[in-house]
Parts: sequence; structure tokens; C-alpha cells
Amino acid sequence: MAIFPAVAILGAGSMGGAVLSGLVSPDVTVEGGIRVTNRTEEKAGALRRAGVASFATESDPRANLAAVSGARIVVLAVKPAMIPDLLREIADALEPDCVVVSVAAGVTIASMEAVLPESVAVLRAMPNTPAIVGRAVTGLSAGNRSTADDLELVRGLFETVGTVVVVPESQIDALSTISGSGPAYVFYLIEQLTSTAESMGFSPADAATLVSTTFLGASELLAASGSAPAELRRRVTSPNGTTERAIAVLEKADLKDLFDRATAAALARARELGA
Ligand SMILES: NC(=O)c1ccc[n+]([C@@H]2O[C@H](COP(=O)([O-])OP(=O)(O)OC[C@H]3O[C@@H](n4cnc5c(N)ncnc54)[C@H](OP(=O)(O)O)[C@@H]3O)[C@@H](O)[C@H]2O)c1
Repeated sequence: MAIFPAVAILGAGSMGGAVLSGLVSPDVTVEGGIRVTNRTEEKAGALRRAGVASFATESDPRANLAAVSGARIVVLAVKPAMIPDLLREIADALEPDCVVVSVAAGVTIASMEAVLPESVAVLRAMPNTPAIVGRAVTGLSAGNRSTADDLELVRGLFETVGTVVVVPESQIDALSTISGSGPAYVFYLIEQLTSTAESMGFSPADAATLVSTTFLGASELLAASGSAPAELRRRVTSPNGTTERAIAVLEKADLKDLFDRATAAALARARELGA
């Protein structure tokens, strides 16, 4: 049973909502309650339930201030461009010992620390969308004034939706190009292989089942076996067999170089957005 002090999630959309789903799971207790905010009453109403106070800024201009009052952990999950305004809005209402953690891509810890009182710790996290099913991997970076206890508190929070990897902030944009964007790469590979299966004459439904189940099964086999992916691949690849021929074609395409270039493009864009 994980126990947390009061938590506020400002901007409970896709990612904030995923974090909320971890906190409301039966094996988690949030003492002092969970508070979430959104802009629209429609979204706020949908999240209201026992143990979750949900506020909308359109009906209550002080929604974010009400949410952070008494909160020991404050998760910032609005769009990156909205973070500076949001920080200025809540700065004076934050509890002096609270820990602020932002999931906003490209917004640096130093820029957030500069706006908030000295006593408030700031950390940065980069979860990914499998958080929705409790299978996220979250990159987490400590701030300049966060303590080891603050880091452990926030690590525990993101562990309610999956696995956490602690990295220095200098690596968080790079991490984002691997695991933040990673689900999109996997979906893209699934789309392409499904299209190939359809070209071979399988119905769209059968093609989708063949490919999606193969990705899921291979991932679960990898996780359960404890073997390296190269070893598991070797076990499917008999010398002179059919898989060996397919892998030879894939090797010629130099997927490593392709991934190097794709992630470099993502990293360049992260730096543009950060600037
Ligand atoms: N999605 C991902 O894969 C992912 C991964 C890692 C990090 N992130 C980060 O997560 C953050 C949110 O992304 P998202 O995809 O979850 O976006 P999203 O679904 O649009 O969620 C943002 C939420 O913020 C609410 N909001 C806007 N202004 C607000 C304000 N002033 N006060 C309170 N709530 C406000 C919006 O409410 P309304 O809709 O009612 O306006 C919306 O529900 C971004 O900074 C992004 O970089 C996302």
C-alpha cells in the first residue's frame, strides 16, 4: 500500500488524467485527498468522485489556488506554453514545503525555480502514454533545491503508473525522444507490418490481430524471459531459415541509423521548443 500526502494535479487532461488513474487505484491512499483542475466544467465534472475534488477554471477563477492550498505534491500537466502563467498564478498560494513536479516537455527546472518561492522544490518528469494502463516508463530529474526525500516521494507517485528511471535533467530531452515518443514509433511499426499483412491477403481484422498480438507477445516474452532481445531473436532465427532471410533484408536497411536520425530530429525539435 503506497501512501501519499495531499496531491494536486493542475491540468488533468491526457497525462494528468493518467497520473490521476494511478492515484485512485485501490492500493494507493492519498491522505488529505486529491485535487485536480481543468479549464472546462465538462472535464472537471467527469473527474469528480470520492476522494477527488475537481475544479474548473471557467467556473471558478481561483480553481488552481484552491487545488494547491494544503497540497504537499503539485503536478503541473498543462501544455508547456501555459506553464509560466500557471506558475505565476499559483506561486503565492503554494504550501512552503510543497514539491512541484512538471511533466511539461521542454520547460527547464531552472526556469520554474526562478518563479517559485525558494522553499518550494521543483522536479521534472517525462512519463509516456502507457501510463493510462499502468505501464509507463517515466524519466525523473531532481531539481537544484529538491532533497533525496522529495525525489523518493515523486518517484513513488510515478511508480503508481509504471516504472521510473532517474536521470540528470541534461538527459531528459534525449530520454523523451526514446520513451516519451517511443509509443508512437511502436504504433508506427505496427501500422506498417499490419499493412504488409493486408497486402498478403489477410483481412484487416486478422492482420491487426496477427501483428498486435505478436508485438504484445514478444514484449511479454522479453519481460518474462530475462534474456536479451538479441538472444530471443536468435532463437527464432534458424540458420538458413525463413526468418534469417527477412532479418538480412532489415539489416541492410540499417534501422539503427534510421532510429539515430529519427531521434536526432526529435531532439532538435525539443531544443527549438525549449528555446
Ligand atoms: N501526452 C503525452 O504523451 C505526454 C507525455 C509526456 C508529457 N506530456 C506533457 O503533459 C502536458 C499535458 O499534455 P496532455 O497531452 O495531457 O495535454 P491535454 O490533454 O490537453 O491536457 C492539458 C489539460 O490542461 C487543462 N488546462 C489548460 N489550461 C489550464 C489552466 N490554466 N488551469 C488548469 N488546467 C488547465 C486542459 O483543460 P481543458 O481541456 O478543459 O482546456 C487540459 O485538460 C504537456 O505539458 C506535455 O508536454 C504529455
